[in-house]
Amino acid sequence: MMGMLRYVDRRNTDCFKWDGLDKTFSRGDLLAMWVADMDFQVPECVRRRLSDYIELGTFGYYNPPAGYYNAFIEWEQKYHGYEVKREWMRFAPGVVPAFNWLVQMLSGEGEAVAIMQPVYYPFMKAIENNGRRLVNCPLLQTDRGYEMDYDGFEETIVREDVKVFIFCSPHNPVGRVWKKDETRRMLDICKRHGVFVISDEIHQDIIMSGNKHVPSAIVGDEAGTYDDILVTLTAATKTFNLAAVQNSIVIIPDKTIRAKWDMFSQGIRITGGNAFGYIAVQAAYEEGRPWFDELLGVIEGNYRYLRERLEAELPDVRVADHEGTYLLWIDFSAYMDKIIAKAAGASGANSADPGAENAAVTAMQHLMEDECGIAVDYGAWFGGSEYAGCIRVNLATCRENIETAADRIIGALK
Ligand SMILES: Cc1ncc(COP(=O)(O)O)c(C=O)c1O
Repeated sequence: MMGMLRYVDRRNTDCFKWDGLDKTFSRGDLLAMWVADMDFQVPECVRRRLSDYIELGTFGYYNPPAGYYNAFIEWEQKYHGYEVKREWMRFAPGVVPAFNWLVQMLSGEGEAVAIMQPVYYPFMKAIENNGRRLVNCPLLQTDRGYEMDYDGFEETIVREDVKVFIFCSPHNPVGRVWKKDETRRMLDICKRHGVFVISDEIHQDIIMSGNKHVPSAIVGDEAGTYDDILVTLTAATKTFNLAAVQNSIVIIPDKTIRAKWDMFSQGIRITGGNAFGYIAVQAAYEEGRPWFDELLGVIEGNYRYLRERLEAELPDVRVADHEGTYLLWIDFSAYMDKIIAKAAGASGANSADPGAENAAVTAMQHLMEDECGIAVDYGAWFGGSEYAGCIRVNLATCRENIETAADRIIGALK
């Protein structure tokens, strides 16, 4: 590719997205457009600073430098207008561990934790695996795209005695970048009823032009309006393709919540991460912006290309108005009869029984895996068979892969 961005063929590199296909799908030779990481090499600054450390060759206990914290604080201030204080920052080896721990800290066994489906499925797991009660307040699908159902949310919170809400901002998988007023309205409801909000903002930087991400922490009229109910989670993971170094940032402005976090993290003895994570993240935030700007252009270009191709050739497809993340939500529900008929007509393990309740789910798998040879995240993963007509496609790859996916899907459905 041109410029700083370099596509890497990651097959046979022990990566989950390409080399772990057969664990989840019927075959290992699919075009991988599922797991939310990128097929691009990280910025040169990250590779250089990690190489320097490896060359140094002493891997004793690491003391994260002030520069790591400052790099994040400056990034957050410069690109999101959020003034984070050093003493509010805590470490977690991933945003997923962080929200699992927070569910344990902020709610008790059997208590209700809310989400808005369709949503990132580890949210559901965090609730179920920790013995909490899952309460779903689904997003509404309107002419303007997906929106929060404020009245339904408030009514549900009260009825179910919800203690914690896990919020996804920007939203994976529907690609919404919540407007300031939308987030504020949701937070006002939570504040009124004493509900803690875990705001997962891992996708905060991947914002399509014309949209603006506003951190939950600063949507109020005054600084700190929601501090007593809010924890924000973010990381350089999505922005710079750094999932493997397992370094994420927990922002807790409130002293009482912070004390709970500190007691918990002391209890499990995880208060910091490995050197590679700190070094990579610091380098990325300090020097990686030009690389990231180029990346954003590629993601936006891939979105526009895929949308135009699908809409031109499959007029009833509904491609989400993509505002943020590199994960595109595409709805093929209008073609479901055809998709089910195709699956029913095919022989083999994935053929669908049109009478079965999950016919749409298996038919979609048949279409993507058997007919198109593509691995995607299925809509049903994000909230059940109601979303069986949808898929989530990863745009953070080379144009050639996007073209291949478009050709195959159009070829199968036209
Ligand atoms: C909303 C959301 N949160 C968290 C993660 C993963 O976080 P981590 O790798 O830091 O555990 C993802 C990855 O897809 C995500 O989409």
